[in-house]
Amino acid sequence: MNKNTLKNIVSPLLEWFGENARSMPWRSDPTPYKVWISEIMLQQTRVEAGRSYFLRWVEALPDVEALANVEESKLMKLWEGLGYYNRARNLKKAAGVVMEQYSGKIPETFEQLLSLPGIGPYTAGAIGSIAFQLPVPAVDGNVLRVVARVTGDRSDIRSEAVKRFYSESIASIMPSHRPGDFNQALMELGALVCIPNGMPRCDLCPLAGQCIAHMKKVTAEIPSKRKKPDRTITERTIFVLKIGSCILLRKREDKGLLAGQWELPGTDRLLSEDELEPLLESWGYRIRSMEELPPSRHIFSHVEWRMKAYKIEAEASFLKEDDAIWICADQERLSHEIALPSAFNAYRPSFF
Ligand code: ADE
Repeated sequence: MNKNTLKNIVSPLLEWFGENARSMPWRSDPTPYKVWISEIMLQQTRVEAGRSYFLRWVEALPDVEALANVEESKLMKLWEGLGYYNRARNLKKAAGVVMEQYSGKIPETFEQLLSLPGIGPYTAGAIGSIAFQLPVPAVDGNVLRVVARVTGDRSDIRSEAVKRFYSESIASIMPSHRPGDFNQALMELGALVCIPNGMPRCDLCPLAGQCIAHMKKVTAEIPSKRKKPDRTITERTIFVLKIGSCILLRKREDKGLLAGQWELPGTDRLLSEDELEPLLESWGYRIRSMEELPPSRHIFSHVEWRMKAYKIEAEASFLKEDDAIWICADQERLSHEIALPSAFNAYRPSFF
């Protein structure tokens, strides 16, 4: 990628943004708090849908202090429908840190922003540039696509090294007088004109005259994204292991997939029927009755579980299980207190 080519996008882009920026409730008054909330919300939803969530949020929680003190149930209600509820929990956590460490004032350096829970390089860049006029990039998927097309670059924009390189390239051309506008102009162009699937609207684009992908008629091929790596398939044998009205859950290891979460006991390979009884005996259970349950599967980002399962009525254990609990006829507790990963949802109906 040629950084000199990139330099030429700055003024046409700023001019275009001046005329085409959509009105957004956080744009008319870009306080650090409003920019922060809006940027986290926009990672979950589009600008149009984000508006009403944002307005409801700032009415209920107008500042960092209100956010730091909000009750969990109200927090969840304000976020309901956006998904990925950890983002909301991190907002509250970060507000607590801002209250304690920065006397309630959102910190003004990129590094301090980055150190807050839930704030990564993109969000720190967006808050820093939009609210504090710091000359730092804020590179999201829209920005990567615009830059890849303008420069005609076929690198894989999913690669972390490529993202870093784009980020450094944008930092090197960042206009110090309007960093927030520049970052938002790139995002806005990506959202409205240089759109992903289908036809980009190059006839409306202020950069068409210098866009290499447009000139070479290869906008459909750029950005190139390498195929996602195939998932590893793990075949598992799972037990709904019951003694009376209780089922056994075990804690997963602290590392790896579903680290530290509760799960139904099982093995990371398919067992033959002959192997079931000796395994359960080695765990300390004698089988009273056994029923095969329908197979199920669950897809994680890099792993797929294919599960074969058995419901086992057992006699009391004579060995002590470490990191295990028994949940007894209490669907309520299982729903509210103990988060059982959704990978096991198929077997919930056979628990109690
Ligand atoms: N998408 C996420 N943040 C944005 C912003 N500030 N402007 C335009 N699009 C966005």
